[in-house]
Amino acid sequence: QSFFKPIQGASPQSPTSQITKITVVGVGNVGMAIAQTILTQGIADEIALVDVNVDKLRGEMLDLQHAAAFLPRTKISASVDYSNTTGSDLVIVTAGARQITGESRLNLLQRNLALFSKVIPPLAAKSPDTIFLIVSNPVDVLTYVAWKLSGFPSNRVMGSGTNLDSSRFRFLIADHLDLNAQDVQAYIVGEHGDSSVALWSSISVGGVPILSFLERQQIAYEKQTLEKIHKKVVESAYEVISLKGYTSWAIGYSVASLARTILRDQRSIHPVSVLAKGFHGIDGGEPFLSLPAQLGRNGVLGVTNVNLTEEEATQLRVSARTILKVQAQLGI
Ligand code: NAD
Ligand code: LAC
Repeated sequence: QSFFKPIQGASPQSPTSQITKITVVGVGNVGMAIAQTILTQGIADEIALVDVNVDKLRGEMLDLQHAAAFLPRTKISASVDYSNTTGSDLVIVTAGARQITGESRLNLLQRNLALFSKVIPPLAAKSPDTIFLIVSNPVDVLTYVAWKLSGFPSNRVMGSGTNLDSSRFRFLIADHLDLNAQDVQAYIVGEHGDSSVALWSSISVGGVPILSFLERQQIAYEKQTLEKIHKKVVESAYEVISLKGYTSWAIGYSVASLARTILRDQRSIHPVSVLAKGFHGIDGGEPFLSLPAQLGRNGVLGVTNVNLTEEEATQLRVSARTILKVQAQLGI
């Protein structure tokens, strides 16, 4: 007996609707910040949570479900065996070890590599048409690992990469010039981490290239000031980790923005970790690192042909070599 009576003349079955389903693997600080941002923004009809910690997993699922009266309607499920992930449109992987104070992202590799060999194959088997969005660190190398282990085409495997670093960069530039960060177009590319590259030559504010603006206004534009801003971006995560133990809110918003672009086919440009072989003279292997990429329902639609100065291109190739050196030790 249904709660509602059908109206006269109604067909007995509702037309099949298109359900959007996101899996979030790992319900730690990062996974939960992502899940709750996706929920509040109404990006998915279903969220499937996965973790190995049974109690924490069920506790997080219930806590989110209890907010149902205040949120867009979203089905939330949880399982330790991937059974709830079948048919996901997007799989976001946040499971794994995180840095302790002062530890580099690359140092996490061996621990998280073992974990990826357990989690990627079943996820790929349950959702063979999905898009993988990797967040666990070191994100660039683990995105390569997910690409290899899944056997998916490269457009359906990406890492959150420097989407977060670029937001930190835009915030610091906006703060420096007393502007709104959303009006600052600026990219950090390369490794999400210590060898990232700031693309100073292509920064603009409201269509005005920033370097010539600073020169015209005779604002003391010293290269040192700009370098300090980039240094601050690189140090951001270390600072937050030393203060609160982990980073979560900014990566939550960063990944939710990627999920919205992908699932709603927004075709916006985000700096994310993609297969970078052949771009800007990157050769000698198959590194995943961040470049400004157009994203949509088919994953990575393409990489923008951004103009780099000789210095920026050289730094990008150095970043690629750093990643390739680590990848060479993986044996996969
Ligand atoms: P956390 O310790 O709070 O959470 C990790 C979760 O993974 C835990 O709940 C744990 O039970 C779960 N887990 C462990 N093994 C698992 C398995 N086999 N299957 C499913 N779940 C498993 O850590 P956190 O702060 O959420 O960070 C998670 C990862 O995200 C770290 O690698 C961290 O470095 C990375 N991170 C990346 C970015 C980025 O910009 N790419 C930003 C922040 C954090
Ligand atoms: C970040 C993580 C730690 O917040 O990679 O940058």
